[in-house]
Amino acid sequence: MCGIVGYIGDKRAIDFLLDGLTKLEYRGYDSAGVAVNCGDNIFVEKAVGRLSSLKEKLKNNLPVGTVGIGHTRWATHGRPSDLNAHPHSDCHKNFFVVHNGIIENYLQLKEDLIAKGHKFISETDTEVVAHLVEESYHGDFVLAVRDVLSKIEGSYSLLFMSKFHPDTLIAAKQDNPLVVGIGKGENFIASDIPAIISFTRQTYILNDGDIAVVQKNSVNFINRQGLPIEKKIFHVKWNAAAAEKGGYEHFMLKEINEQPKAVRDTISPHLNGKVTFNELNWNEDFLNNINKIYIVACGTAYHAGLVGKFYIEKLVRKLVEVDLASEFRYRNPIVDDKTLVIVISQSGETLDTLAALKEAKKLGAKTLAVTNVVGSSIAREAEFVINTAAGPEIAVASTKAYTTQLILMFMLALYMAQISKSIPAAEIERLIKLLKKIPAQISETLSDVEPIKTFAQMYGFNDDVFYIGRSLDYCVALEGALKLKEISYIHAEAYASGELKHGTLALIVEGVPVIALATQKSVYEKTLSNIKEVKARDAIVIGIAAAGDSELEKYLDHVIFVPDTDELLIPLLAVVPLQLLAYYAAITRGCDVDKPRNLAKSVTVE
Ligand code: M6R
Repeated sequence: MCGIVGYIGDKRAIDFLLDGLTKLEYRGYDSAGVAVNCGDNIFVEKAVGRLSSLKEKLKNNLPVGTVGIGHTRWATHGRPSDLNAHPHSDCHKNFFVVHNGIIENYLQLKEDLIAKGHKFISETDTEVVAHLVEESYHGDFVLAVRDVLSKIEGSYSLLFMSKFHPDTLIAAKQDNPLVVGIGKGENFIASDIPAIISFTRQTYILNDGDIAVVQKNSVNFINRQGLPIEKKIFHVKWNAAAAEKGGYEHFMLKEINEQPKAVRDTISPHLNGKVTFNELNWNEDFLNNINKIYIVACGTAYHAGLVGKFYIEKLVRKLVEVDLASEFRYRNPIVDDKTLVIVISQSGETLDTLAALKEAKKLGAKTLAVTNVVGSSIAREAEFVINTAAGPEIAVASTKAYTTQLILMFMLALYMAQISKSIPAAEIERLIKLLKKIPAQISETLSDVEPIKTFAQMYGFNDDVFYIGRSLDYCVALEGALKLKEISYIHAEAYASGELKHGTLALIVEGVPVIALATQKSVYEKTLSNIKEVKARDAIVIGIAAAGDSELEKYLDHVIFVPDTDELLIPLLAVVPLQLLAYYAAITRGCDVDKPRNLAKSVTVE
């Protein structure tokens, strides 16, 4: 939530700030602002709304200073407004700060500061930080920032600029991401790599507790006690094009179409005749010592976890519980050193998931992170890490991250099954053969979007849509419904088909669209009778079936076929039409697909 950028060098800072904020807009987009040191004065401009509003305001008035900070906001404390937009400053406009996170003790701090005579102009938690620096400053900028950090509680990445120190920016991190990009005679600070990738691939990734003192020719790291820290340079492998739209109208459509490659790239490092995970190197003793597995995640990653549960329970025969990260740590989970906690997170920065991971570690669990961002906070916190190779996912609606999470969870289950010999070697071989075909089968699924476009146009203005399915189809239904909700704002609900008769069937009336998944052969007959139940209430039913299914068409208005494969792998194909349906429904309704209202890509607040 919220994107931070900073520049210090010889060039006009505003150019990088606006470019960087454009790349970070997925993190929040309800207001934006910049502060640029122009020598005699600090130039500040803010605008409520999308970044384009700020750009419009700046159009004929671009500041020329070479040091600056910027922010794109996702409101937590205080509604979106010019006054609540960052950067925030102290009473005398000597110190400016941008912040991502939440200062939990800000009310107490604010009261104390007001008692000392400080005047506040915003409703934000962040403004206290600027006033605190003013209070703590006695000539030494670094010392003042360290003093502030000792007083604030909560999660933050912070970037400070001072009128008194035009040659220095100071960044600090706690539970929210921050990277420093190293240039020649210039340095960059940002919440995420896409903001700096067009300028440099040499980066430092900050850890919790790190403070970076950034000047144009140097970056020095200290800890909160002021002691120097040695940090290794992290070379970013992917290129700038990977974070651009590449000719597609939206990132989401691009990312849907990137799935064959993303899944192939995720599979290939782990296939060598059998499934290998060098980064795990587990053995039979290790697995015998695990008597319970938790999968913990949020949103789409949680839905991938639900599928992961099926994979592990079916192939490894170990008990798996799936939990929402935001619930897990508040219900005193039964976790000990015989528990394996797997957290799944595309960004590797979701605060709820990170907190759940820390809780699991505290309780003594073995921890495994499945992330898409090498070096992310979650990746660094977990004992074991395996990575999806989806490349940067920019659209708020997760697509390629989901399918790569599914394939990695499938391979993880196969890997565990190989070690524990829980299924015959021939069955593993058969499944490996099928999983190799998945990238091509996703391409095939993507090759005929016209019917999906038509359905989206036909049903894009309905108020309610239901998704039904049994077994793994139910997990995919949940993901399909989330996609539709978040980008088209249509009320969409997913139900386990067998549950309909226990209540939901009352909502099924003439003309209500129902998306019915019927790809799971083991429960096919039962699914079919549930589909007939909704059809009998005159719902308009669109079926999702495996190629070769000749039954469903007899009963349904429309059927979308996906290539056939094992029922464990078919979720990777069945989800694709649902992603496309959501995309085209959102387009039909004129929604901002990549930046849905009230949401942000990376949720680094609780
Ligand atoms: O980065 P993460 O995978 O941890 O993010 C988790 C959720 O916030 C994310 O999947 C969210 O639900 C997506 N917007 C769904 O499309």
